[in-house]
Amino acid sequence: MSEGFRMMGFIDLDRVIEIERRNYDFPWTRGNFADSIESGYCCLVMERSGFVAGYGVMMQVLDEAHLLNLSVAVNWQGMGMGKKLLMHFIDTAKGMGMNSFHLEVRPSNSVALNLYRRAGFSEIAVRPDYYPAEKGREDAVLMRMDL
Ligand SMILES: CC(C)(COP(=O)(O)OP(=O)(O)OC[C@H]1O[C@@H](n2cnc3c(N)ncnc32)[C@H](O)[C@@H]1OP(=O)(O)O)[C@@H](O)C(=O)NCCC(=O)NCCS
Repeated sequence: MSEGFRMMGFIDLDRVIEIERRNYDFPWTRGNFADSIESGYCCLVMERSGFVAGYGVMMQVLDEAHLLNLSVAVNWQGMGMGKKLLMHFIDTAKGMGMNSFHLEVRPSNSVALNLYRRAGFSEIAVRPDYYPAEKGREDAVLMRMDL
C-alpha cells in the first residue's frame, strides 16, 4: 500500500477533527484548520487506501517554514507514516525555496522528539510555558533544520 498526499480541503475537516481529538488533550478546533486553509498555509492530508490517515499544516514566514501541526491517526501510528509525512513537508519546503524549517514540540512527547531528531532537527531553544497542560503550562522545545 502506498501513501498519497494532497491539499487539505474543508471537506476533510470532519475526519481531520476526529483524528485531532483522539491525538491531543488540547486539540486544534475546526476553526483553527479552517483559518489555516483560508490563510493559504500549506495544509496537506496523507491518504492510505483512500482514507485520510494523517495530515499537517506548514506556514511560510519569509524563507522559513514553520510546522504547526503533524498528526497520524492512532491506528496508523508507529508504521512509518509520520516520517513519510514529515519528509514530504521537508521536500515541499525545499521546493518552495525555503532555507530553514522550524517547529515546536512538547518535551514530554518523546515519539515526536525522536522523529524530529532522527530527521535532522536540532533543539535550539526552550519557550517557557508555551502549551496548556493538565496542570498549568508546559514548555515547548523549539527545533530547527537548515534546508
Ligand atoms: C508523532 C507522530 C506524528 C509520529 O508519527 P508515526 O507514524 O507514529 O511515527 P513513525 O512510525 O513514522 O516513526 C517515526 C519515528 O518516530 C519515533 N517513534 C515512533 N514510534 C515511537 C515509539 N513508540 N517510541 C519512541 N519513538 C517512536 C522513532 O524515532 C521513529 O523513527 P524510527 O522508526 O526510524 O526509529 C504520531 O505518532 C502522532 O500523530 N502522534 C500524536 C500527535 C503528535 O504528537 N504530533 C506531533 C506534535 S509535535
